[in-house]
Amino acid sequence: MNPETWAGVDEYAAKAVLARDPVLEAVLAANEAAGLPAIAVSPLQGKLLQLLARIRGARRILEVGTLGGYSTIWLARSLPAGGRIVTLELEKKHAAVARENFRRAGVEGVVELREGRASERLAELEREGGELFDFVFVDADKASLAEYFEAALRLTRPGGAIVLDNVVRKGAVIDAASEDASVRGVRRLNEVLARETERGRVSATTIQTVGVKGYDGFTLAVVGANGG
Ligand code: SAH
Ligand code: DHB
Ligand code: MG
Repeated sequence: MNPETWAGVDEYAAKAVLARDPVLEAVLAANEAAGLPAIAVSPLQGKLLQLLARIRGARRILEVGTLGGYSTIWLARSLPAGGRIVTLELEKKHAAVARENFRRAGVEGVVELREGRASERLAELEREGGELFDFVFVDADKASLAEYFEAALRLTRPGGAIVLDNVVRKGAVIDAASEDASVRGVRRLNEVLARETERGRVSATTIQTVGVKGYDGFTLAVVGANGG
């Protein structure tokens, strides 16, 4: 098994289960043309997010880390009439590319892009005290994963779901002595997950993945382990 095989299987599986989508292809091309890093979720991962949000019946979705809005568009397309997605992005350039992509995909009416530091925008959402979210996708800087998860917990309704991307880092997360900020972020996330699992506030799992993005993984947490 090697990365070429993982990517080959992703491409093979995508042909079977994903419709050709010129809009999403144009979105990725626009990201590349603007010089954004090629770190969006893969097509199959985008579809997974969309299916999870649909299974959850999510009407209010929160995303932390927009980049060019590729994952945002997958999620926006899961929304029922009247649904909304709020997405948070630090970089002005990424936000500008994303806004253009939302227009391209025709989802600009359901997406609310808030610019600035996610920590500040999350605190702002908490202060506003709006309706809680049904589904949250955390995919920004990995050093702050634990803080984003704690904020997401406060912003998600009982029974809502939180997905956190990039929690395996090619396996580097098992190195307790790592000085890599992302690895340390994931390890602090797992301390919070252990505490909140113990308290019965979440029920979570972590799944390792391989594919076009190499070897990584995600955590899925449902809020309110006791039937919430
Ligand atoms: N979810 C996107 C990919 C996100 S990449 C997709 O799959 O299409 C991570 C994004 O998080 C980058 O655009 C980066 O600028 C943003 N980011 C990094 N640190 C941040 C912070 N402190 N606050 C908000 N966004 C941040
Ligand atoms: C990186 C970030 C991501 O969100 C991802 O899915 C893959 C890589 C990165 O910062 O390298
Ligand atoms: Mg990611």
